[in-house]
Amino acid sequence: MIASLGPVCGVIGAQWGDEGKGKIIDILAEHFDVVARACGGANAGHTIVVGGKKHVFHLLPAGSLHAGKPVVLGAGMVIHLPTLLEEIATLKDSGIDIVSRLHLSPAAHIVFEYHKDIDAVMEERRTKQKGQGIGTTKRGIGPAYMDKAARSGMRLESLRSSEKDLKKELTERATMAEEMFGVKADVTKELSELLRAKKLLESRVSENTVALMGDLLQKKKTILIEGAQATLLDLDHGTYPYVTSSYTTAAGALQGLGLAPKVLSSCIGVAKAYCTRVGSGRFPTEVTGTTGDRLRERGGEYGATTGRPRRCGWLSIPDIQFAAALNGFDHWNITKLDVLDEEEVVPVGIAMKNGKMIYKEFPGWKESTAGVTSFADLPKNAQAFIRFVEKETGIPASFIGTGQAREAMIVRS
Ligand code: GDP
Ligand code: IMO
Ligand code: MG
Repeated sequence: MIASLGPVCGVIGAQWGDEGKGKIIDILAEHFDVVARACGGANAGHTIVVGGKKHVFHLLPAGSLHAGKPVVLGAGMVIHLPTLLEEIATLKDSGIDIVSRLHLSPAAHIVFEYHKDIDAVMEERRTKQKGQGIGTTKRGIGPAYMDKAARSGMRLESLRSSEKDLKKELTERATMAEEMFGVKADVTKELSELLRAKKLLESRVSENTVALMGDLLQKKKTILIEGAQATLLDLDHGTYPYVTSSYTTAAGALQGLGLAPKVLSSCIGVAKAYCTRVGSGRFPTEVTGTTGDRLRERGGEYGATTGRPRRCGWLSIPDIQFAAALNGFDHWNITKLDVLDEEEVVPVGIAMKNGKMIYKEFPGWKESTAGVTSFADLPKNAQAFIRFVEKETGIPASFIGTGQAREAMIVRS
């Protein structure tokens, strides 16, 4: 089945993020030549568990653990360089060299500390004016993309500039941040971080991402695209304004990497067997109280980036149908089935009526699915639940997650 994914495969979140994209990427990376991230920044937190050890990735793809594979950070990304340097150092401590196989797009934008400060100021304003903010990760994502859209951002190509020019560029931006948002940028500190990054990474900035990707394809290299954030957080198609500031879909990922849409050979939608959301915004299948708490505890639903408790609820068929239509999924990876093992009943949202979700209730299986690797070994009720998702979406659940570990995955042929 994995061989049928073809030369360019995208892995895209179907809900509001944290579906478990990192884990399937880590599993698939072994079968691809190159791993690439296209969009977003250190708002992402992708967790993988290998040999009992947990690794969390924010900017580097979760596929980076596979030694020797080239890793691409695309033009659609916004990159906080100190975080990238920290991730590189953490991998080095585990004996994994990434620098020599890293390809950075010159067109990716740089996130500075003042972007984070502006993020915080804007959240505070929204909370004052509207009673609640978006609940951003405060990683400076929105403000960095604001600068990008306003054509006032700094891109990774700047790592080729001289110290003098970088200082001038930073000073201009510091003035703007202060005039527009009352945020004081520390030019000396930003400059020293830039110079630190320049020293290690200048040689890793590609001439041109489109040419890099074209060259890889011409050499028949296979490419695995690691989506970040998720479909319902997409700036165009998500639950605006409670979204992120990037394009989180398959189309957004291709754009972010400079790949022509027609090269995508397969796309895997990742959805939890239930649903979570961090931050504000609609969540029709949300459950609070003891049931919500139980899902949170069993699923370990605390943000990989911010540590915030995630809001929890049931799977929504209309939402994943929407994501499937928008992204053109060929396969599902339904994750965290094991988290539902102790539920008496498993409700699934099937349709909205007068602003309320209608549910179909599945009998629980009350049996451990932890670590199961074959569909036939799943309890009958768990199989019925999966079959229902497949029938309602018309997409096969080719991958089913049954635990945190790399090995805990059903791969169906
Ligand atoms: P991502 O942002 O989509 O990569 O997902 P996160 O890493 O933020 O959150 C997913 C969490 O669920 C991580 O802690 C994973 O280790 C964990 N996880 C992934 N798949 C499974 C699974 O099938 N079962 C269980 N119990 N945990 C899983
Ligand atoms: P991964 O890749 C879950 C959410 C934030 C907030 C909104 C806007 O790990 O699935 P931002 O900081 O991007 O301006 O915040 O988007 N958000 C995520 N939620 N997983 C993510 O990434 C997210 N990235 C952003 O919680 O509601
Ligand atoms: Mg995450």
